[in-house]
Amino acid sequence: MAYAHITGWGMAVPEKILTNDDLSKMVDTNDEWIRSRTGIAERRIAGEGESSATLAVEASLRALEVANLKAADIDLVIVSSSSPEHIFPATASLVQDQIGAINAGAFDLSAACTGFIFATNMAAQSIRSGAIKNALVIGAETLSRFVDWTDRNTCILFGDGAGAFVLQANDEPGGVLSAVMHSDGSGGDLLSLPAGGSKLPTSEATIRNGLHFIQMDGKSVFRFATRVMARATKEALEKAGLEIEDVDLIVPHQANTRIIEAAARGLKLPMEKFVVNLDRYGNTSTASIPIATVEAFESGRINPGDKIVFVGFGGGLTWGAFTAEWSGPLPSERKVLHGWHLFLARIRSVLLRIVRVIEGLIWGRFGR
Ligand code: UT7
Repeated sequence: MAYAHITGWGMAVPEKILTNDDLSKMVDTNDEWIRSRTGIAERRIAGEGESSATLAVEASLRALEVANLKAADIDLVIVSSSSPEHIFPATASLVQDQIGAINAGAFDLSAACTGFIFATNMAAQSIRSGAIKNALVIGAETLSRFVDWTDRNTCILFGDGAGAFVLQANDEPGGVLSAVMHSDGSGGDLLSLPAGGSKLPTSEATIRNGLHFIQMDGKSVFRFATRVMARATKEALEKAGLEIEDVDLIVPHQANTRIIEAAARGLKLPMEKFVVNLDRYGNTSTASIPIATVEAFESGRINPGDKIVFVGFGGGLTWGAFTAEWSGPLPSERKVLHGWHLFLARIRSVLLRIVRVIEGLIWGRFGR
């Protein structure tokens, strides 16, 4: 049976920075409160022309470059997002087209901030079963578009960004070792975006009542998060046959430093074992784990052979974790010319659109 190795990783965040001081001019809050209650100092906000798909594409191209893999060799693209481009088509389809993953099936996965854990597990299981060889898993968010900028309970928390992993089949043991996934829909109302779906389609009333914005019972989510982070980590370790002493690093969902500290206490681990970068990005939801991983790697905190736990929680309610033995890119003889492949992908996309228009004209004239 093949193993599912993490062979590529990439991230993308908007340039625009929104600091706590900036927020204090918008709502009744201050830098001291936000830092002490959440750990967040600033977050990135998508500008005009940026969206979940554009950030996802950027992160994906970087991940493919690290993996030295052609987009055409990808079999599966999963985009996890709570702020997709549209209800449909899937953001994953747009990414598939933009990067030129012409042989891939692509779909979105909605599991809020835990989405990247679930998506990576789905991709890893598909590889381990032998069904596919290469997968691209992306967490991408522009939650700033769904935040009520007059609600100090939520607008201080979220930031925009995307992160991506390439997963590849290989006979060498390693890669994703185990995963656990959990849900409790009875707590769905604790963190939700009530309107815009089939239950409450957008209307004048939903807009008037602010139901197209994120709604959150912060305290309940906090209590839930402190309960499940350590528990999910232990479960995933047990499933992989690992002990807590074997863990080199934990990459937790970046929501609140106090939640990560509670997890550290629950696992009796020092905070040095945890990656924390939410001070600079806020809560980027499902993108937070891959973004934190990329930064941990770039700062030399991740090395081949390391045993890492990735653990998250979020709306749904959902929570889960996976363990991995870090391997890095698979050896390859040829360097992939990414710029050239990207150019061909964009040409191909335009040609397909033109062909569809011509096809429509021909059908209009001669078809039935
Ligand atoms: O990915 C999952 C997404 N969600 C989360 O991770 C949320 C988890 N929850 C949390 O992180 C925390 O519950 C929050 C950061 C959202 C809030 O922290 P808290 O310690 O639970 O504060 P609180 O809601 O109990 O509010 C304490 C006080 C209240 O004032 P009173 O009633 O004590 O006078 C709030 O009105 O702080 C006030 N407050 C603020 N003050 C200044 C609430 N938000 C703010 C604010 N600035 N932004």
